[in-house]
Amino acid sequence: MEAKIKALREQMEAALASVQSKEELANFWQSYLGKKGSIAGLMKGLGSVAKEDRPAMGKIINEFKQQADARYQEIRAKMDELELAARNKSEQVDITMPAVRRDAGALHPITIIRNEMVDVFSSMGFEIFEGPEIEDDDHNFTRLNVAKNHPARDMQDTFYVADDIVLRTHTSGAQIRRMDTGKMPIKMLSPGRVFRSDSDATHSPVFHQMEGLVVDRNITLCDLQGMLDEFVKRLFGGDVKTRLRPSYFPFTEPSVEVDVSCFECGGKGCGLCKGTGWIEVLGGGVVHQKVLENCGIDPKVYSGFAFGIGIERIAMLKYGINNISLLYENDLRFLKQFKD
Ligand code: DAH
Repeated sequence: MEAKIKALREQMEAALASVQSKEELANFWQSYLGKKGSIAGLMKGLGSVAKEDRPAMGKIINEFKQQADARYQEIRAKMDELELAARNKSEQVDITMPAVRRDAGALHPITIIRNEMVDVFSSMGFEIFEGPEIEDDDHNFTRLNVAKNHPARDMQDTFYVADDIVLRTHTSGAQIRRMDTGKMPIKMLSPGRVFRSDSDATHSPVFHQMEGLVVDRNITLCDLQGMLDEFVKRLFGGDVKTRLRPSYFPFTEPSVEVDVSCFECGGKGCGLCKGTGWIEVLGGGVVHQKVLENCGIDPKVYSGFAFGIGIERIAMLKYGINNISLLYENDLRFLKQFKD
């Protein structure tokens, strides 16, 4: 029996030396230390050993068992250690690697320009006052001195919601709503969406305007000119000049169209200003006395100026965009150019 144990011990060392995986180690355990393993077999064989030799033999088998178990534990610990090291290595974080770029959203060019315009005007003391997009005929036309059958109604192709209800064709209706509040003086800025049945490279059926209205004592056209001068300098650059041209709007008298000296060529003449050196940016004028009266404001005491700016037009000029539809298609290749 002793010879058998010795042989088994050598066999065990050889088996352990070839163990490569946890699976093989588990097999080793089964075949030596398991219930039906070789050591259990030795124990069973004790029955045929002479009675007086049994305790000594039992002791030897037990020692062998402990030794086998110790070797098993030792190799398992080593394997666990190697496994952990391998895992640590494979999961290692290289903090010098460039991070995965996550694209954040950005503002739409129309929003950027609108915000810039709001910033300039609010620094001059203008307050935002918004009107509804679905407007009645009264606010959109009649009280702005555009009576029914007035030819000026043809200046804007109107979407009708009902007989007397329209999708507002301009933000000017907000002027009436602001004056109706009765609070004086007025320094109002009204940005918003407007709608006209019109569509080509520079016109879209839905677009944005920014309305301005100032009403107080002794307001004149000079105040409009001075304020717009400051506005265009802040928006387009310090050396841009303004000029007023006579025009016609039913709600202002006199009415003006405002040009800025071409910020692309400095006034020499180029493609952007079509060779004229000037670019039209907005319409405005002195608020018509009838409009003040329509809102219960005494034109002998108060006077005012108003203006309306197309936000898309300013965005297209400033960014050199040649087709208005680019602003609505939401093509990311286009929009990404406005990220700062
Ligand atoms: N509402 C005009 C338009 O849509 C723009 C405009 C012109 C607004 C003169 C005004 C103004 O307030 O005084 O074309």
